[in-house]
Amino acid sequence: MTRAYSIDVKDVTAERERVNQDLSQVDISRVIRLDELDLAEMGPRDVRLRILAVSAEHNVDHAALADTVNIAELRGGKIYPGNSAVGEVMAVGAEVTRFKPGEIVVTHCNGAPDRFGFPKVIWAYDTPDSTGWYAEEAVVADWQIVPAPLHCGLNLWEIAALPLRAPTAYHLWRRAEGIFRVKVPEERLATLNVMGFGGGVSELFLMLARARGHNAYFCSGSPERRAALEAHGIVGIDQKAFNRFASREDSKGFVKEVRGLTGGEGMHVICDMLRGPLFNAGFAAASREGVIVSAGWQLSRDVGYNSAAASIKQITLDHTHYETLEGIEAATALYGSVFKPTIHSEIYAFEDLPRAMAEMHENSQIGIPIIRVAGDMPEAVAALIP
Ligand SMILES: NC(=O)c1ccc[n+]([C@@H]2O[C@H](COP(=O)([O-])OP(=O)(O)OC[C@H]3O[C@@H](n4cnc5c(N)ncnc54)[C@H](OP(=O)(O)O)[C@@H]3O)[C@@H](O)[C@H]2O)c1
Repeated sequence: MTRAYSIDVKDVTAERERVNQDLSQVDISRVIRLDELDLAEMGPRDVRLRILAVSAEHNVDHAALADTVNIAELRGGKIYPGNSAVGEVMAVGAEVTRFKPGEIVVTHCNGAPDRFGFPKVIWAYDTPDSTGWYAEEAVVADWQIVPAPLHCGLNLWEIAALPLRAPTAYHLWRRAEGIFRVKVPEERLATLNVMGFGGGVSELFLMLARARGHNAYFCSGSPERRAALEAHGIVGIDQKAFNRFASREDSKGFVKEVRGLTGGEGMHVICDMLRGPLFNAGFAAASREGVIVSAGWQLSRDVGYNSAAASIKQITLDHTHYETLEGIEAATALYGSVFKPTIHSEIYAFEDLPRAMAEMHENSQIGIPIIRVAGDMPEAVAALIP
């Protein structure tokens, strides 16, 4: 038995009824509850983990709102969320050779790779029977964890920010770059203009672009998050100066700004994790041969665009979803050298996880939100706690 957070469809329904189905009024902290969970029996390839720290992830928001699908209902009435964690190995099954007790690991959320490695489902979301890591302990299969790069230069909270967002960003980047290079080889254009809209995944995507020597632009409404990225040589664009593209005039002003910043060229690669008005703004800001990638649909699942304009400008849209197991290892190797995440100013206590989720929903945090789960930390990470 372990303490673990759950989302119950009864609470989802009750909260939606309380606010008359006005999702903008939902209080996420009333939906995610501290609960208890019987841990699965350890199999020969399983590992028992003590969770040290986790990051708040937006799929929990989607689960609590039931705005895309009602995942708690689809999963039989309740889910135990949490698919990004740093943990300590407590015990290993008889056939586990890669890990031993005392090691520190990060989890990943590729819940079932297809034959090319792409996730068919996401752990602790739509993977059947999966339970998540917003818990004090967990049992996972050995293929679901990766050794934590404790000597990468990041502190424990920064490492905890990355297990979900970094592989997502890595996959988005290699897809976007590969697609662009099918159209325009490096000898024709070495340095690309790369733009991401606000959010932790986009920030990491831009760090990758910058590390590869490209021009990177971060279009965000948060002055703190823009300032953090400017310290990495990533140019900020104030999204609120264009009213988050509320009107046609706002979007026109934004496109003018982009043209000015890029010598009239526009953005060769765009990461749009939110859709809604951001998709249209990105589409208009794309250069000829531009590539727009996304793994998210925070503001809207549906997009509409002028396919004739896309054809004439040779614009490609691509849709991705988390990483392959090999890609996750490759992304983890970039912790600290490329990925230097911005962390929210408060490290939340385990009991405050619902508030962390509510503040993420309200978009009031100035970096990736981290929750400290373990009170006592193992010696192996003692030096990594600021
Ligand atoms: N498929 C996958 O594998 C995968 C993986 C990770 C995430 N995702 C999805 O991708 C989306 C983004 O994830 P994330 O982790 O990057 O999110 P995040 O770190 O929580 O950031 C969300 C960002 O959205 C921006 N935002 C909030 N409300 C907005 C609004 N009304 N208009 C414009 N921007 C707004 C904010 O940026 P500013 O205020 O700075 O502008 C905020 O920083 C989520 O829907 C998540 O579920 C998918």
